[in-house]
Amino acid sequence: MKILMVGGGGREHALAWKLNQSPQVQRIYVALGNGGTAKHKDFDNIALTDKVALREWAQAHAIDLTVVGPEAPLAAGVVDEFRNHGLRIFGPTQAAAQLESSKAFSKAFMLRHGIPTAEYQSFEDAALAHAYVDAQGAPIVVKADGLAAGKGVVVAMDIQEAHAAIDHMLAKDAGVQHNHGVARVVIEEFLEGEEASFMVVAQGLTAVTLATSQDHKRLLDADMGPNTGGMGAYSPAPVVTPEIHAKVMREVIHPTLKGMQQDGIPYTGFLYAGLMIDSAGKVKVLEFNCRMGDPETQPIMMRLKSDLLELLWAATDADTQQLENIELQWDRRCALGVVMAAANYPSTPEVGQEIHGLPSDSEEAMVFHAGTVFQDGKVLTSGGRVLCVTALGDTVKQAQHHAYALADKLHFKGMQMRRDIGFRAIRR
Ligand code: AMP
Ligand code: GLY
Repeated sequence: MKILMVGGGGREHALAWKLNQSPQVQRIYVALGNGGTAKHKDFDNIALTDKVALREWAQAHAIDLTVVGPEAPLAAGVVDEFRNHGLRIFGPTQAAAQLESSKAFSKAFMLRHGIPTAEYQSFEDAALAHAYVDAQGAPIVVKADGLAAGKGVVVAMDIQEAHAAIDHMLAKDAGVQHNHGVARVVIEEFLEGEEASFMVVAQGLTAVTLATSQDHKRLLDADMGPNTGGMGAYSPAPVVTPEIHAKVMREVIHPTLKGMQQDGIPYTGFLYAGLMIDSAGKVKVLEFNCRMGDPETQPIMMRLKSDLLELLWAATDADTQQLENIELQWDRRCALGVVMAAANYPSTPEVGQEIHGLPSDSEEAMVFHAGTVFQDGKVLTSGGRVLCVTALGDTVKQAQHHAYALADKLHFKGMQMRRDIGFRAIRR
């Protein structure tokens, strides 16, 4: 089978790597791909991003299945475009992707269907937003309504910071893709607890759960510094005990799929619930994503033993029984991924540095590429998050040791990485 993978980050490299292990996969085309996918003998990068151009290309090249990695093409309606032309594609429609692309949509959805989440209000008017912050006090959380590439959330520890975030997010040039051209902010209650990433493969009312994971969003060790797209992750997340797991399915995943169905926008695709779990075991949804997490995908894919193609094929089959019959097998070991980021990430990452020391692929440790290009036989940096060094180990500590041993052999000028990925699990 020929597969088209839409995207070019570490998540897409990991998904393509895993799909390629399926005996049924002949060739994988990655749009746009990166240096890691460019170097791979079974992959071809293709230079298309527009949904119509992608659909025409998929038709012309008899692609059997398209898998979408990032949120932007989903929010732009790539799935609708493919489906309207009878092509098989895995991901949510544009309407369903609003669970991620609009915070106002997802908060109203959760309220309507009784899915636990932080108390909130949404505002278009800056004066009302400021007054609300004054009345609520800090800490408080300000979120832009629209895709903001991971920069749309400010956890304000004092009210000055919250006021500044409101002004910034409601400004025209804030770098947020406003929904329907309207700048809007969601202001919500600050939640305490431990975060976990909970992902499923969904089709209508059916969900197959993936292994749990935990991401590290802050740039620096001990969760200091600015928020990023994610500086590392590991799987499984011990905070998700079997009891919490059952509760998340009961209180979050099933009601969400049922709610989407009831609202006339049935959900197919990866569904990611970002959770906050408090010390009493109460679970609240911080956010939904309509895709896999990055870098969570990298450790999750290293642990998946089942055939990913079979899973995604079943989830795109007209016969919904196919997905219900799937039971996934996981490596009992832990996997841990460390992101190597460019100098000046997350603000204005430096690009064009040569990367030295890249190993070849292995089943036990992988260097997944993100912001890289392959040029004249060299791999150069081309984005903020450059690589995700991911390794297996019998314990989190061993996976961590294994990943850092490999990361320490890699080098590019100005690279940044955290040294404490997995610390919460190790502390337990
Ligand atoms: P989000 O994109 O909504 O997941 O937010 C990004 C990060 O901000 C989350 O991973 C949390 O670390 C933090 N965050 C978001 N909402 C809240 C909240 N209500 N309380 C505390 N932290 C939050
Ligand atoms: N790592 C968090 C995310 O992908 O949204």
